[in-house]
Amino acid sequence: MSTSEPYRTLTTRGWIFFTTLWILAAASLYNGAALARCQTAEAIPAAAQISAGTPQNDGLWWKHAVIYEIYPRSFQDSDGDGIGDLNGITERLDYLQSLGVDAVWLSPIYPSPQVDFGYDISDYENVDPQYGTLADFDKLVAEAKKRDIRIIMDMVMNHTSDKHKWFVESEASKSNPKRDWYVWRDAKGVGANGKPLPPNNWISVFGGSAWEYDPKTKQFYYHKFYKQQPDLNWRNPAVENAMFDSVRFWLDRNVAGFRLDAIPTLFEDPQMRDEPATGGINAQSDPNLSDIYTNNLPQVHDVMRRLRAVTDKYPGNRVLIGETYLPNVQDLDKWYGGAQRNELQLPMDMQVGFTNKLDASLFRQRINDAQTQINGNQPLFVFDNHDNVRSWDRYGDGVHDEAIARLLATVLFTSRAATLMYYGEELGMVTTTPTRKQDVKDPIGITGWPKEKGRDGERTPMQWDDSKNAGFSTAATTWLPVAENYHTTNVKTEEGNPDSLLNWHKKLIAMRRSDTTLRDGKQVMLDETNPFVLSYARESVGENPAIIVALNFTGEPRTITLDPSTAGITGKTVSTLITDAPSLRQVSSLQHMTLPPYASWVGSVK
Ligand code: BGC
Repeated sequence: MSTSEPYRTLTTRGWIFFTTLWILAAASLYNGAALARCQTAEAIPAAAQISAGTPQNDGLWWKHAVIYEIYPRSFQDSDGDGIGDLNGITERLDYLQSLGVDAVWLSPIYPSPQVDFGYDISDYENVDPQYGTLADFDKLVAEAKKRDIRIIMDMVMNHTSDKHKWFVESEASKSNPKRDWYVWRDAKGVGANGKPLPPNNWISVFGGSAWEYDPKTKQFYYHKFYKQQPDLNWRNPAVENAMFDSVRFWLDRNVAGFRLDAIPTLFEDPQMRDEPATGGINAQSDPNLSDIYTNNLPQVHDVMRRLRAVTDKYPGNRVLIGETYLPNVQDLDKWYGGAQRNELQLPMDMQVGFTNKLDASLFRQRINDAQTQINGNQPLFVFDNHDNVRSWDRYGDGVHDEAIARLLATVLFTSRAATLMYYGEELGMVTTTPTRKQDVKDPIGITGWPKEKGRDGERTPMQWDDSKNAGFSTAATTWLPVAENYHTTNVKTEEGNPDSLLNWHKKLIAMRRSDTTLRDGKQVMLDETNPFVLSYARESVGENPAIIVALNFTGEPRTITLDPSTAGITGKTVSTLITDAPSLRQVSSLQHMTLPPYASWVGSVK
């Protein structure tokens, strides 16, 4: 498979979680057997041993932020109904503070019929009763603030629920003033079976035609996702006005910004041209299409600039984060507004975290691209979210999974990038894909079974301890089952083990928070032709020495010799800051260093 293939697939299908689920199934990567934990041997510099809650929120706080995605249904249930809620999250803020989190991105908590578990919003200015109330939300924001943690909302602008009052009006009649708020079109004709034919060949990301016929008004409406998620018509300025009002509603409630859901899909080709087929079928048995007329259309950038103008009016550097699965770094740059920097502050760079194979050369190239090809903007790296098989399973080999998880965390937290992590990533939570169709909750897993088993596997409840339901809920049953490994993979157990994956994360995050070199130092690749070991320097900033990182991307020991003078680093005194390889605890030279399989080493040079 060529290195760019996942991204070609991505543009074709429009959605990477299909790609990763497919890769997972094809490679049978899931292997629940957790291995004995590797020994860690960290010598954390005194400067890094600060309280993880130390504020560093002045100025452009988001530049170095650790943003933690919470899937609210699965984080903490406070009222015993088996579903997580806002008060549950508030109860767990101390944990997030101890981890060193700067901001929480909340997956949607708005009122919703929950067809797509909240990504089908029926009221943009309220909280779904199963998650709590607006007062609970305000309390969460206030309690989080006390711990220097910001709250970021998920804003779904591409579509609403079909139960939203705007759509209820829109479908009422062709002459309704809200008719044009959605994308309605006449049938292309009548099929051989006597049924109306959809206006074109566009398919839904979630399977089947992207057009749904309304017999009452005898027209089709467009839905990029489920038919219960009709697309808004962003060519109608009234839609933008209404949506921006909802954005202000939350800004006024002191949210720190938004993660913009499926944002490249706002616009469609007004001529409604058929999309070209690229051959073969996808997991939902639809033809693969190149989504050139329904994804990443240029008009979306005008909306982003106007949205940025809205958020910039508020104090405190509110941030716009984009769910931007893009085919290349040039496209990513456009989402910042290039050198103008007038669109999103942090469009997600999915190029690094979703390479889905441990290939040191590919990681080097993509990290380098993010350092050099986006006009000096700040990259945002991410390995996990609620739509993709967890990185533990996507990158793990079933033998060295935990060492690989440490290596990925090291890439994430020692690169010059803002970072996004997903609840449970810090523990080594695994993907628990349903084994029976009747257990599946995610509709794409029902319609796509058995090829596409849906996204339940990466949404299982957070594992807090080894008590009933992993401490997530007191209910008899939880909305999704708790993963079987919770007896050993949980917060309480890992907090008590200095060598745990959780403590690895805490130490790396603490280093980032305290070390100006790790936060701002230029990231320069070393040993650039090595296909097995990824090595880079972070140039010294302020009093802090330069930092060198070396990561063995293979299951064999690898010996390297690094010459940091190629990055302008002249110091000769080398010391280990953190490593999971006992043999590398006392490194004093960058000559002939042997890294055990999948070992991570971070050191300083003065
Ligand atoms: C979200 C998915 C959701 C889809 C439709 C994606 O970006 O992350 O979970 O199903 O948008 O809203």
